[in-house]
Amino acid sequence: MSGKGIGYGKTILFGEHFVVYGLPEIVVALSDYTEATVEPGVSGLEFIDNRPETPGYKETKKGEISRQLESLVKYFNIDLEKKPLKITLSGKLVCASGIGASAALAASIARALNQELGLNYSEEEINHAAFVAEEAGSGTPSGADNTCAVYGGLITFEKNLQGGPNKIERLKVKKPVEIVLANSGITQETKIVVGDVKALKEKKPAEFEKIFKDYMKLFHSAIDALKKENWKKFGELMNKNHALLQKITVSCKELDEMQAIALKAGALGAKLTGTGRGGLLIALTPGTKLQDKVAAALEAKGFACQKTKIGV
Ligand code: MEV
Repeated sequence: MSGKGIGYGKTILFGEHFVVYGLPEIVVALSDYTEATVEPGVSGLEFIDNRPETPGYKETKKGEISRQLESLVKYFNIDLEKKPLKITLSGKLVCASGIGASAALAASIARALNQELGLNYSEEEINHAAFVAEEAGSGTPSGADNTCAVYGGLITFEKNLQGGPNKIERLKVKKPVEIVLANSGITQETKIVVGDVKALKEKKPAEFEKIFKDYMKLFHSAIDALKKENWKKFGELMNKNHALLQKITVSCKELDEMQAIALKAGALGAKLTGTGRGGLLIALTPGTKLQDKVAAALEAKGFACQKTKIGV
């Protein structure tokens, strides 16, 4: 017998960094996912990672991945001496920082273990197992990534700063929309960038108050545009979100250059997504023709691209 399970990747459409201070963000699962297969093993835990990656990702994340695996084994109460397991990861999701790869790993394995062990865990329990594994892996996850990895779809996520349950609302679009995710090739530590923003906020509280107010206006307009599937407006708002992220110093010259290339090639909007100061840029490109054109323009300048869809 073997158990199988999937976990979706994600991208943040609005609100990275602001979410740390209790403001809502819009996060969307990608159509690409990681698939886990769990089978009886020979001894202990055998782990085979066949996921595609941006160069160096798995090596950098070695420690994080093994802490996640340990956490999942513990969560599912598995005695590996009595029940050796082989876990194999595959799927189209290309591992890169900012794409929710670790949450996709945790969700896919949690699902596969649930099936293999015949536990009939609810979706909520699977999500909790994935969250606990995320905590073990990287320390202070917001909970948005694992929620997207488990449930898929489009959500608004508001972190409860008091420590109670986070506020999650599900949104829907009728037709999935093409996007391009372009990689700056620069990897950043989320903890460091988040720490720098916190220090800046402490130094310039009035400026941040104004930026937060501006962000909330953007957020509400973005929800409205999304509900109307007005992608032109949604794209314009993404550009404005990027400008706010520049103000809090989390963009960088590569990301700004990538945004300019994407917009020149016809993207309806583009912004950094995730931690920033490197990592990924998301460009909104409804239709495969526009998607191809924008990806080609970015690739011509040396930025690797993934073409995928949101709203699936
Ligand atoms: C990182 O992908 C997103 C941040 O907002 C940090 C977080 O939400 O934990 C920068």
